[in-house]
Amino acid sequence: MHFLITGGGTREYIDPVRFISNASSGRMGYALARAALKAGHKVTLITAPTTQRVPGGAKIIKVETAAEMFEAVRKHFSRCDCLIMAAAVADYTPVRPAKTKIKKEDKFLTIKLKPTTDILKWAGTHKKKRQIVVGFALEDKKLRERAERKLKDKNLDMIIANRPAAIGSDKTAVQIKTLRSKWLGTRSISKAAIASRIVRLIENLLP
Ligand code: CTP
Repeated sequence: MHFLITGGGTREYIDPVRFISNASSGRMGYALARAALKAGHKVTLITAPTTQRVPGGAKIIKVETAAEMFEAVRKHFSRCDCLIMAAAVADYTPVRPAKTKIKKEDKFLTIKLKPTTDILKWAGTHKKKRQIVVGFALEDKKLRERAERKLKDKNLDMIIANRPAAIGSDKTAVQIKTLRSKWLGTRSISKAAIASRIVRLIENLLP
């Protein structure tokens, strides 16, 4: 299979040297890329900035912003068999980033944000029948209920739900659901172990 995987946290620039981002380490996306490569698949990894080591054998596409990530996914989506959106994509981006460095002034500063494109939803609703689209859901409360709603609303094949504590950590416990399966829960294990499990479950979704 050809896996298209996204990882890392996007950066939304306020001015040329400052941005809004999140605590994503990129571990999950990179672990998925490694697991897919190990299982003999072809991997294209679209990555926002991280300190992770590039997995040998993957085609790497570096992006920074949510808009750049969307462009890269759009470009490569039709050629993949499975898209996994493991990146922590910013939901909002500054409406008008300053062209030069914002000078400090002794008053409040307001930055107006606009929503970004939901890449996962775009892929789920634009997918041809043959593509498998997998998303993540990060939820404080009502984990399964909210994740299941995302699975349906975004027309996904699989959703992996976890808690905000998973962001940036080495280990995590996840809940996984496909359209036809019941919820499958793991205890807190390494992201590498979770990634291998996810790749195996995706292989099993193939007709
Ligand atoms: N995602 C995406 N494009 C965005 C934002 C998120 O593709 N602009 C993807 C993430 O990669 C992840 C999934 O959507 O796979 C879920 O992200 P999450 O932040 O949990 O949920 P949202 O859909 O943004 O909804 P909410 O903020 O209501 O929880």
